[in-house]
Amino acid sequence: MGKYHGQANSVLRPRTTEQVSEIVKYCAHRRIGIVPQGGNTGLVGGSISLQKEIVLSLGAMNNVRSFDPVSGILVADAGCILQSLSDYIAPHNHIMPLDLGAKGSCQIGGNISTNAGGLRLLRYGSLHGTVLGLEVVLPDGTILDQLSTLRKDNTGYDLKQLFIGGEGTLGIVTGVSILTPPAPQATNNIFLALPRFDNVLPLFQIVKRQLGEIMSAFEYIDRTAYDMGLTHGLGPLLDAEEVGDSECFILVETSGGNNEHDLEKLNHLLEHLLTADQPLINTGTLSQSPSQFNAIWAMREGLTECCQKEGKPYKYDVSVPLADFQKVVDAVRERMISKGLYGDHAISKVMGYGHVGDGNLHLNVIAKHGYRPELEAALEPFIYEVVASRKGSVSAEHGIGSMKTHALHYSKSDVSIEWMRKVKQVFDPLNIMNPGKVLP
Ligand code: MLT
Ligand code: ZN
Repeated sequence: MGKYHGQANSVLRPRTTEQVSEIVKYCAHRRIGIVPQGGNTGLVGGSISLQKEIVLSLGAMNNVRSFDPVSGILVADAGCILQSLSDYIAPHNHIMPLDLGAKGSCQIGGNISTNAGGLRLLRYGSLHGTVLGLEVVLPDGTILDQLSTLRKDNTGYDLKQLFIGGEGTLGIVTGVSILTPPAPQATNNIFLALPRFDNVLPLFQIVKRQLGEIMSAFEYIDRTAYDMGLTHGLGPLLDAEEVGDSECFILVETSGGNNEHDLEKLNHLLEHLLTADQPLINTGTLSQSPSQFNAIWAMREGLTECCQKEGKPYKYDVSVPLADFQKVVDAVRERMISKGLYGDHAISKVMGYGHVGDGNLHLNVIAKHGYRPELEAALEPFIYEVVASRKGSVSAEHGIGSMKTHALHYSKSDVSIEWMRKVKQVFDPLNIMNPGKVLP
């Protein structure tokens, strides 16, 4: 985003866990701060050296350690790129349990450290469930080997959970054991244009009921985001006339075991939606080929990059009740209008897209001519207050990083933050591990 500017003057690229351990021991002895860095695709400034800490890049640790095609358990170095791992297990008919737009650059260790959510969470759950074990270098250089390949292990505190989403503040993830699901035999998707946002909730209920276990994604794109996508060459996926003044769009993906059976269900669903007394959609399309399937996903996955092309994006990643998605986006737009900051001279677009099936809205606010303090002052803490008033989360999946430390209290109670501090103190009393991140 060009929003964060690292201050590091040294980057270390260890090749082994033992080298990571030696580096950490050296740094602990001299109290040198360390910023662990994966693919550097985070959106909250979590892998940035704020005060000349060294950057410890995991990218040279990129070997698969083992894969068991029977259990689907993959053990890999933290620096493996997510897409490379997908490619590695594809011939064995398995897929990674997570998928996200940054898959070509992000690394599995970073995914785990940030507890990345993404597009498959609805189907396969979060990394807190799919990660079976971790190898972590602790802040004193000790190697914590919990690289278990057991599905069940109820022997006391599950320490690995602290490093999933710990954003490198408690230790450096160097190895990962993860359960990969069998590849579905058939995947399909549909793209729907909805006349009104109010139709999203009833649509979600119908889709869940009709598709049942084969539904694997339910993604939301509002009209502003869709039009932005069209401007930047994504799509068109639907006939412009049929889309008319549709307020929003939904992408539904299915992953099942029998293509004929899945297509029958999807066709039946489309027919039902179009011919109901009060149709919930204006129009919709079912992908007819792998290239159409990819084009539909490209519209959703390409939005992040389109935002960068529009200007400088302020990115908010919030969880709010599904029914409030559009109200939150509208409230922010109205706020900017009331402050005289809406238009090509300041904030040119306010839009929402995201993982509606998980209650996760990506609110993107585009500053056409760059980040400016008065724009940020109008947005924050306003947005965090709106989210807190709906009992939401100020970070659904991107993490806290350095961007949201001051906003942590909107989603965590004083007691929670106090105990987070105590945990940090136990693991990292010298505060050398990614200092300035997560905790204010
Ligand atoms: C996404 O779902 O596209 C990502 O989380 C990134 C974004 O918020 O743009
Ligand atoms: Zn997302």
